[in-house]
Amino acid sequence: MPIIAFYSKDSNVELQNEWENRLKAYYPSINLVPLLCDQAGKAITALLWKAPLQSVKKLNNLKALISLGQGVDHILKDNIIDHNIPVIRIVDPFMAKSMSHWVILSVLNYVRDTFGYYDQQLNKIYKPRKAINFTTLKVAVYGIGAIGSVVAKDLNQLGFKVKGWSRTQKHISGINCHYGKNKFKDLLKTCDIHICLLPLTPETFGIFNNSSFKMMKYGSCFINAGRGEQVVEEHLIESCKSGHISSAILDVYQTEPLPKNSILWEQKNIKIWPHVAAETNPETAAKQIVNAIKCIENGKKPPNTIKRILGY
Ligand code: NAP
Ligand code: GLV
Repeated sequence: MPIIAFYSKDSNVELQNEWENRLKAYYPSINLVPLLCDQAGKAITALLWKAPLQSVKKLNNLKALISLGQGVDHILKDNIIDHNIPVIRIVDPFMAKSMSHWVILSVLNYVRDTFGYYDQQLNKIYKPRKAINFTTLKVAVYGIGAIGSVVAKDLNQLGFKVKGWSRTQKHISGINCHYGKNKFKDLLKTCDIHICLLPLTPETFGIFNNSSFKMMKYGSCFINAGRGEQVVEEHLIESCKSGHISSAILDVYQTEPLPKNSILWEQKNIKIWPHVAAETNPETAAKQIVNAIKCIENGKKPPNTIKRILGY
């Protein structure tokens, strides 16, 4: 009976039971135990989302760690976990499509000025607002991996001109793909809507700051569903206050949950979502997690094992 240490969302028991039931559909003898209990010491694998890493480090029998999300920054944080322990992430088309829906919603709200019309309704104003010609808008998608590539393609299908940015060269039909540090500025300068779907690494930490916001065109829209630490929030607030960024839609923050005293809440042209753009779905993700656990048990390298040196 394989024992798997589990931690997600403050050790929520209901969530643990849901995961165990979903995993049992593919591996009936599987046994999930809370990370913070004695039995976890016997686990060879741990399923984790934002777990206390000092407790993970104490598990002496661990052969691998599995992220309960597509991002792994919460496991690699502060370099606490031994570099020799493989880290596996979820790559789920369901999540890529969920993200795509959320980004499309955000982009269309900007393009169709939804919130301007909501404000007019409050004052019973029945009047067309200035329309934006979407065919002339350029959209930048920073990070065109498992999630960003789907988002880029779906936006292109809707009639937007899309530029993508990655670390290494990519070829995606219909998308103007760019790569490498030097091309970052080109996208900042030439696009009207900027969408961050990057993983958090030392290279992407604080990448959206005063200097990058200033390079964007006046009135740009900024959307972030990558990680909060990629944005210098004070700089974003300044850019939104001045109108240089006319609209920002955020799903992730430097500190989560977003503190009640954060000024982000108060800025009218910033819209706040509580990290829900693409939530992990136990139903669609269970099969690949079981496959990873079986690979680990059989001494094989599971698919979607991250390259530790890259940090994603
Ligand atoms: P992925 O498949 O690893 O794709 C990452 C993309 O970012 C790749 O295109 C990669 O380039 C690019 N990249 C990484 N470092 C870069 C750098 N220094 N410069 C330029 N490009 C760089 O990751 P994913 O599965 O799409 O997920 C991306 C991120 O989305 C996650 O790490 C997580 O932070 C976030 N996320 C958020 C939510 C949410 O609900 N808000 C849900 C899921 C995921 P290469 O293609 O060259 O490697
Ligand atoms: C969510 O943020 C994820 O990384 O899956």
